[in-house]
Amino acid sequence: MAASKQILDEIFPTAAQVPERERLAEPLRQKEFLLNGELHTWDGPTQTVLSPVWLEEKGGAVQVEIGSYPRLGAEQGEAALRAAAVAYNKGLGDWPTLPVEQRIKHVLNFTADFCDQREDVVRLLMWEVGKSRQDSEKEFDRTAAYIRDTVEALKDLDRNSSRFVIEEGIAAQIRRAPLGVVLCMGPYNYPLNETFATLIPALIMGNTVVVKPPKFGVLLYQPLLQAFQKNFPPGVVNFVYGSGQEIVQPMMASGLVDVLAFIGSARVADLLKKKHPEPHRLRCVLGMGAKNAGIVLPDAPLDLSVAECLSGSLSFNGQRCTAIKIIFVHRKILDDFLAKLTEALQKARFGMPWEPGAFITPLPESGKVEYLKGLLDDARAHGAKVVNPGGGDARCSFFAPALVCPVTPAMRLYEEEQFGPVVPIVPFDDLQDPIDYVVQSRFGQQLSIFGSDPDAIAELIDPLVNQVCRLNLNSQCQRGPDIFPFTGRKGSAEGTLSVSDALRSFSIRTLVAAKDNEFNRGILRAITRQRKSKFLSTDFIF
Ligand code: G3H
Repeated sequence: MAASKQILDEIFPTAAQVPERERLAEPLRQKEFLLNGELHTWDGPTQTVLSPVWLEEKGGAVQVEIGSYPRLGAEQGEAALRAAAVAYNKGLGDWPTLPVEQRIKHVLNFTADFCDQREDVVRLLMWEVGKSRQDSEKEFDRTAAYIRDTVEALKDLDRNSSRFVIEEGIAAQIRRAPLGVVLCMGPYNYPLNETFATLIPALIMGNTVVVKPPKFGVLLYQPLLQAFQKNFPPGVVNFVYGSGQEIVQPMMASGLVDVLAFIGSARVADLLKKKHPEPHRLRCVLGMGAKNAGIVLPDAPLDLSVAECLSGSLSFNGQRCTAIKIIFVHRKILDDFLAKLTEALQKARFGMPWEPGAFITPLPESGKVEYLKGLLDDARAHGAKVVNPGGGDARCSFFAPALVCPVTPAMRLYEEEQFGPVVPIVPFDDLQDPIDYVVQSRFGQQLSIFGSDPDAIAELIDPLVNQVCRLNLNSQCQRGPDIFPFTGRKGSAEGTLSVSDALRSFSIRTLVAAKDNEFNRGILRAITRQRKSKFLSTDFIF
């Protein structure tokens, strides 16, 4: 779709044009927060939630207010951490010592209640972060699948640990044990899925958790609070809300956080880590920035490369950490590539999240449209052009995607992670240029190579596998399937997430060992056969 003036003028609907199924009955005024198993009512200040969706009214478009949530302070943050610390009780609490099979039961019961809330959560995802209905449903379903896969992975892990290892005359049982209190903070682009990607493994491994939802995507947790309250013992899961500065920084400074699970910017990750009084005992699981490059070789399959680059750079308006955020195109095919990419973009639908097939939707961050315009102005000032008609035109929270070429190292777009619908294209003659870019980058998450000559691709694989953590051939960058390791080098990540890796990230190997002699064997036999210990056990989970 080219962003003609008419399209932009009509991009936002009137209230009456919103299909009945997609409407929010009334603003959701959340007053409650889950602390120590109780839903407390908050009478203090609240944070208003504005949607990325605007509605046309007589005097012009108006941003929709969809609700508010408690703006808690340092005192409530610390109370939530204390509740989690009491439930953990230095590893002696009921939850961390519960047999794995029991913890699995709690999580599965929770999953059933979670799935009952699908429609409400999906609707809030659309209104809070502007994600299309199709992608919002995908996010919800992927999360439910992730929980179930995590349960299966834990069963496998436990089955493999339910035996003794005898080595150099020592018999040992090696298991994974929890770490303590986890502070869980997901990002606004996957407010549900990427929070659960750390929350569920943390919980199921026996840790206790405080969740702070991201800056957008807070209200969607409200329909889930009762499911958490009902299915987990008091203090095991707690929720806090508020500004990072007012609530999260004091939480870190309290020293009560054992594990920081954070997906967001490196700047905030550094800030939070530094607040901890004993950083040496803080484990961090971090997903941070990325500027994944696409490299389009002269013999790249054109249609396929264009389709993957379009989806890779612009799905959810480019607001994915795995998005392709810069594309190096060999000059030999540059014109064809640009023409086809422009043509493909002309066919992409712009619209509201609930409109069928909507690909480009409004942006949730205030100031983001101005930021993106600033990137385009800077690129133009340094000699680049917006290639697609109407690219960069904007109205309120809606920004029409822009293909920018030729991007050079002099431009902000070359380095900055735009996290929005702007696609920088860098022409190249010498393959060393994209290689140098990736080597010099402060990020190291993924990249995509498009080409058809096995020799040329192989030549790129070897220098680049030590720069990033996933190299995609003729396909866009992405996190899934969720059983694949998802991580990054340099400033992109700390720790690895995947269904099975996350279980490891939120636990530590602990063993009970004894010299393998008849005296000790008798003791071990008695403990396991009479099921005297939950840890030292040869029970097999079916
Ligand atoms: O925002 C970063 C996400 O981890 C990307 O996940 O590749 O599944 O969209 P995705």
